[in-house]
Amino acid sequence: MSSRKQKIVFTGGSGLAGRHAISKLQEHGHKILNVDVTPLDNPDVYTLKADITDGAQAFNSLSCHFSKQEPFHEPLQTPDAVIHFAGIPQPMLLPDNELFRINTMGSYNIIESACKLGIKKIILASSITTYGVSYAEGDVDYAYFPVDEDCPCTPMDSYATSKLCMERVAQSFALRYGVDIYCYRIGAVIPPAAFQEKFRAYTEEPARWKPHAWSYTDALDLGNMCEAGLQKDGLGFQVFNAVNDEITNDAGGEVAGQGDAEAFLKSVCPGTKFVRSMGKREAPVSNRKMKEMLGFKEQYPWRERYRKELI
Ligand SMILES: NC(=O)c1ccc[n+]([C@@H]2O[C@H](COP(=O)([O-])OP(=O)(O)OC[C@H]3O[C@@H](n4cnc5c(N)ncnc54)[C@H](O)[C@@H]3O)[C@@H](O)[C@H]2O)c1
Repeated sequence: MSSRKQKIVFTGGSGLAGRHAISKLQEHGHKILNVDVTPLDNPDVYTLKADITDGAQAFNSLSCHFSKQEPFHEPLQTPDAVIHFAGIPQPMLLPDNELFRINTMGSYNIIESACKLGIKKIILASSITTYGVSYAEGDVDYAYFPVDEDCPCTPMDSYATSKLCMERVAQSFALRYGVDIYCYRIGAVIPPAAFQEKFRAYTEEPARWKPHAWSYTDALDLGNMCEAGLQKDGLGFQVFNAVNDEITNDAGGEVAGQGDAEAFLKSVCPGTKFVRSMGKREAPVSNRKMKEMLGFKEQYPWRERYRKELI
């Protein structure tokens, strides 16, 4: 597929996930403006410092130049797409009400501004925490395996609830304006610097990782997921699980005595039903929809890299 180069406003690009997604999108040839309250240490991407919980700042962030120039050589242009990552990424970083305000108002302002400015593609960072297990009060089961986008979302916490509110607002605006809004339910994001440490924990203590649904999102593949969404038009409002292909431990691997992903899940979640049979190493959160509808292909599978880097 030949890739269309686009002008993209990326919110929250100075953060853990955004900085890697941006560098991957640059590899794909896109021009990017980062909108964040803190700067990004990327010499090729200008950061407009803006607080998107303020509607006027959000609106202006989506309707300005892409860099500082004297004079401005390029005319103002409407961006082709907005990728919205800015927000508070988990509970307990701020009081619940402040997290909820920032995440819901920030996303509302970006969605509304983008639609009213005529931007036709919006990609939003939602979360697999919406399935209600990650930040539950106590031990809760997933409704079924593999967890697809139809799985009930029953969170108890303010963070996941703020993401569900964002998805609902997105659905309304997509209907009203006839634009594409793709909500990505992202798993635990693993940046390159944390890869070894995280996969050591995932593989050495597999039973611990129910809150992550034994699934992960490679930070650079998240950029590839954004690229897949940018290149696919006309789907209207959609929700996609945005995770990598495989389960985060050796359940389906070569380790003697271990079974496949399904057998592992039956051992750790004996009461949870299966709605279809799973691939031997398939991630419990299914990315099938993203692969089928957006054509996403993972570039950074964990297994070979983990083994290779251990040698
Ligand atoms: N990290 C994960 O494992 C994970 C998993 C699922 C979903 N997500 C979602 O992905 C997105 C990015 O997560 P992250 O881990 O990179 O978080 P992060 O905290 O590292 O980055 C978020 C960025 O948003 C910026 N920001 C916060 N409030 C802002 C505001 N009012 N105006 C402008 N910028 C603001 C911050 O300065 C920061 O640079 C978030 O929406 C998060 O909920 C993250």
